[in-house]
Amino acid sequence: MTQRIRVFATCDIGDALNILRQKGYDLEVYPQPEAPPKALIVEKVKSGVQGLITTLRDSIDAEVFAAGKGTLRVVSQLAVGFDNINRADANKYKIPFTNTADVLTEATAEFAFFLMGALARKLWPAEHLTRDNQWGYWHPFLPFLGDEVTGKTVAVIGTGRIGLAMIKKCAGFDMDILCYDPAYENREYIQAIQETMDLRFERGISRDKTMIRYTTLDDCLKSADFISLHVPLQRPGEGSNPTYHLINESTLRSMKPTAMLINTSRGPVVDETALARALRENWIAGAALDVYENEPLPADSPLRDPGLADRCRLLPHFASAGRITRLSSDPEKGMAGRCVQGLIDVIEGNYGGDITKMPYVVNKEAFAK
Ligand code: GLV
Repeated sequence: MTQRIRVFATCDIGDALNILRQKGYDLEVYPQPEAPPKALIVEKVKSGVQGLITTLRDSIDAEVFAAGKGTLRVVSQLAVGFDNINRADANKYKIPFTNTADVLTEATAEFAFFLMGALARKLWPAEHLTRDNQWGYWHPFLPFLGDEVTGKTVAVIGTGRIGLAMIKKCAGFDMDILCYDPAYENREYIQAIQETMDLRFERGISRDKTMIRYTTLDDCLKSADFISLHVPLQRPGEGSNPTYHLINESTLRSMKPTAMLINTSRGPVVDETALARALRENWIAGAALDVYENEPLPADSPLRDPGLADRCRLLPHFASAGRITRLSSDPEKGMAGRCVQGLIDVIEGNYGGDITKMPYVVNKEAFAK
């Protein structure tokens, strides 16, 4: 009798797991909503599972890979980001890991866009006014006004998939767009957006001419009304373009006092202590965050200061949290489907068993002949 394939999932990722059950895999799912302790992951891997399904909450490093030496064949992560997985360690142990890029691109970009709008138009304080029965009269400017997004300048920091999708959405709102990416520029896409902007103006759809261009980080920070972050997290020493604390006291001070920051990338890209100070001392006008240096956001975070609540939106790492995006079993639509398919590709030797050809494997470099 052939041995059943054993898989441990650190989290229930929904119905897509039935694909593995139907294939006869021996699947164990950590039953709690919280992340399992690292020691449990190590124990499961040591016990010989061939597949490990992870989320961004799990720290997957040399200890885990060493525990799976000779048995663990794939780590399949339900996320596009993989800063919780030590790539060098994965490569050392020659264990492929997969991610769920693409399927969350539009959901994450639209969430960044909505955060920008909610912050600018003061949706949260305005709703509070109504709910708290403080809406005493209609008045042209009291008790406060918001700022329009339409016609403003947005800086998109990071022009990978999600940054480009954000650009597409901002272009639809007749925004001028500044782009910065230290590692990857897609000038063809930016040119196509400029052409659609020009056409919208020529055909009378947009009232004003708008523009998009790549520029320096400094120009983005100094010139933009909104700064939206779409870079991966790279801590110092992890790569040639570290993004850890890219937004810090000095970069915050160079923004306009009316500027607003949106972060849907990774928390440590922003120095939160500096950001809280920037908001308190009005170096910038607002921030909307979906990700944090420590998640969940600690009770004593300076960002929770009630004095900042009118200009600081705090969301619970929610950008990809659309039903289809998170849970669809279809690998072309859902993170869960893509996560499961990535695992199956490796375990079942799809693509002729050539890991470098498997679309969802991240660390292909470790398997190049
Ligand atoms: C979410 O943050 C992800 O990386 O998928």
